[in-house]
Amino acid sequence: MENKGYGAHVLALPYPSQGHINPMLHFSKRLASKGLRATFATTHFIYKTFQPEPSESVQFDTISDGYDEGGFYQSESIHDYLTRLEDNGSKTVANLIMKYKELGHPIDCLVYDAFLPWALDVAKQFGLVAVSFFTQACAVNFIYYYVHHGLLKLPVSSTPVSIPGMPLLELQDLPSFVYDNRSYPAYFEMVLRQFYNTDKADWLVVNTFYKLEAEVVDAMSKICPLFTIGPTVPSKYLDNRVKNDDRYGLNLFTLESSINIINWLDTKPAGSVVFVSFGSMANLSNKQMEELALGFKGSNYYFLWVVRASEEAKLPKTFVEDIGEKGMVVNWCPQMEVLSHKAIGCFFTHCGWNSTVEALSLGVPMVGMPQWTDQTTDAKFVQDVWKVGIRVKVDENGIVGREEIEFCIREVMEGERGREMKENAIKWKGLALEAISEGGTSDKNIDEIVSKLIH
Ligand code: UDX
Repeated sequence: MENKGYGAHVLALPYPSQGHINPMLHFSKRLASKGLRATFATTHFIYKTFQPEPSESVQFDTISDGYDEGGFYQSESIHDYLTRLEDNGSKTVANLIMKYKELGHPIDCLVYDAFLPWALDVAKQFGLVAVSFFTQACAVNFIYYYVHHGLLKLPVSSTPVSIPGMPLLELQDLPSFVYDNRSYPAYFEMVLRQFYNTDKADWLVVNTFYKLEAEVVDAMSKICPLFTIGPTVPSKYLDNRVKNDDRYGLNLFTLESSINIINWLDTKPAGSVVFVSFGSMANLSNKQMEELALGFKGSNYYFLWVVRASEEAKLPKTFVEDIGEKGMVVNWCPQMEVLSHKAIGCFFTHCGWNSTVEALSLGVPMVGMPQWTDQTTDAKFVQDVWKVGIRVKVDENGIVGREEIEFCIREVMEGERGREMKENAIKWKGLALEAISEGGTSDKNIDEIVSKLIH
């Protein structure tokens, strides 16, 4: 190591949303634990509104997405947001790079979310090493790669779809942007653009671990070399080698007191509670919220349900009062702390990639109720590849009914099938730990990147 006290200076640039900030922030802490200096750049709006918890190892700085007062919600449309993020982001990332040079701590490497491929041009303009960080599952990335390169033509004309390394995929197993390619054109363009300049990136890192997606990783690596570096969950819950890494540390929602939640869980028997969360973005219909509420109540299991403040009005009136001790509804919780609690018996999840990986890393079986984007593919793998859960069936009106909800919860919480899912979940937990522990596949990959940056 040089006498500046660190091996190289990495600037981390996440896509500014919760599901992208969390894994990038953990990855930054892990790089810092291996002797690098890490600066984490989020938007002015996020920084001043949500104030990251100070970290011993990572310092925070800001860029502009062009919406310094209100962030994404200030924009007129997804397209406008992404356009201004690119325009303003490019300029302000360049400013940061120049600032650190003047301060005597020049940036050596830019680790940027693959959703922001323009960042690569900025990195190259300054001669930096450029690392493209793929937040989502390798399978999802490979499907987008196939579409981007015209290997999978749209609209999909015949099913099942065959992509190397994956089971045959029905339409509903593909990312929603692919099977419903008019639904969010701006996001669809963004996920495909992840690949337009990857040949110029120094490395592609994927937020998964080798054994979790071995066949997909092998197949994709042949045509698009990549490093697996996950799971990117707080180290306390796996290898515990990253100091003070017991939570992500930047919540874009108001966190409820973990004492109340943990106290409530402490009073429940082991494996008796269903934890329910649909992540940071999903918007469910009133009818769907009603069916969920009645399904949870009807299942007769305890449940802890994260309902974001913006979704709360959709709950049936008096539901919260009616459920009494059976259930607890919170606006946002420390998800890792909850999932690792012994009272949790299953995770009723939208299968966001972070939630999926967190459950796998903690050995918690799942009921998958995917909503959109990559979650549909994650749910396919949860049920049919990793066999750690079951995916709900949606009725002809697009609703998951209360009986189906009750049925799926029972399948996971009870009986022979439930026991197998739990055993499989414990197996994946062990493999996740192995990957990120000293000498594991992800650990070795991270070490290789670090050593190349240092020398
Ligand atoms: C989005 C996409 O939906 C997801 O599929 C993609 O892979 C990443 O971006 P999101 O919907 O928010 O993310 O889901 P998810 O990926 O699961 O991320 C949510 C994060 O918020 C997780 O890290 C989870 O631990 C955290 N969380 C969630 C909390 O800390 N508290 C909560 O109450 C709920």
